Amino acid sequence: MIHVSHLTKRYAGRTAVDSISFDVGRGEIVGFLGPNGAGKSTTLRILTCFLSATEGRATVAGHDIFNESIQVRRKVGYMPENVPLYTDMRVIEYLRFRAQIKGLGFRESRRAVSEAMDVCTLNEVSKKLIGTLSKGYRQRVGLADALVNKPELLILDEPTNGLDPNQIRQVRDLIRQLGERHTILISTHILHEVEMTCGRVIIIDRGKIKASDTPQNLVRRLRSAGTVNLEVQAEPELVVAEVSKLPGIASATHTDTRQEWAAIEIRTEANVDVRPELFDLAVKKKWPLRELSRRQASLEDAFVDITHQPADAGKSKS
Ligand SMILES: Nc1ncnc2c1ncn2[C@@H]1O[C@H](COP(=O)(O)OP(=O)(O)OP(=O)(O)O)[C@@H](O)[C@H]1O
Ligand SMILES: [Mg+2]
Repeated sequence: MIHVSHLTKRYAGRTAVDSISFDVGRGEIVGFLGPNGAGKSTTLRILTCFLSATEGRATVAGHDIFNESIQVRRKVGYMPENVPLYTDMRVIEYLRFRAQIKGLGFRESRRAVSEAMDVCTLNEVSKKLIGTLSKGYRQRVGLADALVNKPELLILDEPTNGLDPNQIRQVRDLIRQLGERHTILISTHILHEVEMTCGRVIIIDRGKIKASDTPQNLVRRLRSAGTVNLEVQAEPELVVAEVSKLPGIASATHTDTRQEWAAIEIRTEANVDVRPELFDLAVKKKWPLRELSRRQASLEDAFVDITHQPADAGKSKS
């Protein structure tokens, strides 16, 4: 459905996308991930013919993006990063207008808009001015716009950006549902969502593709495959020293220094479960124990590892 070969985009003096190649097959839901400024939006804009590439080739839905931009735009539903909406139009007027721009006839556009509004649960705001809608509803208008001509392929640039947790969940469910009938390439920073919706992940960093695999495989490939949290009543330095002597330990760190109990975060090597040994150690040393739990590595850990961003000490993922 998408075939990209050595695509490059240079802005004055700066390479935003550096000779990237990847494919997206029919029916796939692919997460397009990367840190800020990695080149995600630039790539998506090129694939939807809103920006020209400097070098390379790409076909989208069977059409060359350089020579057949009109056909590409017809076949792709694109939701840009900042959805440009006419704030003084009513939702239903706007969507009908967009449907007609995309080549749908009068009758056809009415039916298509009504379906898109159903899918995106927009009926209760259909007569409201877009300018008066909340951010979440505006995002949904953007999504309905992308859907209205029943495209084979959806390209969505951070569709959940700025939404509250309930709305994020709704949009996630919607995307899953759309994935049953469409091929989807979606850029987002919400990795938990990606784990739940995407069959494959492409990670781009500083204009280059760093990984392309299933979320499960990316996590499996991580060097430190898990983290164990241990809380005992003892001298933290002593606990760290004793724990570090056990086999399979990558690192042990005293994390929460505010507590009276020693809270130790232990990173383990792949496929090692050190909890039984930690329990034995606590018993042997007569340390009162109140926490011994393992957190499996997440896609977020894999992302941090691949893009070499410093780990956020405050992160809490279960
Ligand atoms: N019109 C432009 N002129 C010059 N440089 C640009 C332009 N648009 C983007 N860039 C640069 O290209 C790089 C990639 O930008 P892009 O918007 O594709 O990143 P992104 O991965 O979408 O980031 P984000 O997660 O913040 O949305 C950035 O360094 C950005 O500053
Ligand atoms: Mg972007």
